[in-house]
Amino acid sequence: MKTVLITGANKGIGFETAKQLAQLGYFVYLGSRDKMKGLEAINKLKDLGISNVALIEIDVTNINSIKQAKQELETKTDALDVLINNAGIGGELPQNISAGEIENLRKVFETNFFGAVQTTQQFISLLKKSNAPVIVNVSSELGSLTIHNNTRNPNYGMYDAYSCSKTALNAFTVMLANEFRNTNFKINSVTPGYTATDLNQFKGIQTAEQGAKSIVKYATLNNDGATGKFFKEEAEIPW
Ligand SMILES: NC(=O)c1ccc[n+]([C@@H]2O[C@H](COP(=O)([O-])OP(=O)(O)OC[C@H]3O[C@@H](n4cnc5c(N)ncnc54)[C@H](OP(=O)(O)O)[C@@H]3O)[C@@H](O)[C@H]2O)c1
Repeated sequence: MKTVLITGANKGIGFETAKQLAQLGYFVYLGSRDKMKGLEAINKLKDLGISNVALIEIDVTNINSIKQAKQELETKTDALDVLINNAGIGGELPQNISAGEIENLRKVFETNFFGAVQTTQQFISLLKKSNAPVIVNVSSELGSLTIHNNTRNPNYGMYDAYSCSKTALNAFTVMLANEFRNTNFKINSVTPGYTATDLNQFKGIQTAEQGAKSIVKYATLNNDGATGKFFKEEAEIPW
């Protein structure tokens, strides 16, 4: 059975991704920084008849928590097939780049960028033991510099801290994919699209189930799949 670790999977898109991958037959390690919230999520899945799932406590901003999560995973599995760096925060508003609080910018980067980097660094040795390792960095259209340059969407400026953090996450995807270019790793950024979750006070225009479908598509790539790309649903989108 293939194994997947999803960070921030106790709710929202991460939870739906956990559900869909479990239904596809993956063994899902459902990451949650809060044990109780994680157990509630596991129970919800069990109520749906899904038993191929286990809780992994992991706070991506805390290196000790990540190391503990890795140690725990090593006692349960020899290899990790898929890592989904999904945990993310939107940050406080306002965050227009000329005036937003630097502390807020740092906080958003701490989760959305450094969190994904340090989680990946810790789990890379387990991923290397897979026959077809896959990493999905859950990004956003707001991380695309091309889209920011070409679209005068007044709403985008409201989320500058978040956008910068996702641009940095995309850079991480490119660097990591290059580092593993001649291996069997598939490493991509994927945006779920504007999805109704806590992150945006449920203003998104699609359900978490729909958002998760894109993540699942690129989490289940085989050896012929793309690497070093940025995807939205079926299509590649510009960095
Ligand atoms: N919703 C959208 O429209 C949209 C669009 C593009 C991209 N995304 C991305 O999709 C991903 C999932 O977001 P969502 O919309 O599903 O939001 P969400 O419902 O707020 O879920 C975010 C998840 O991340 C977890 N998390 C936050 N900080 C963490 C940390 N330090 N360590 C571990 N987990 C942490 C949260 O845990 P707690 O429950 O403990 O807070 C929660 O499980 C994020 O990366 C987001 O940027 C979302």
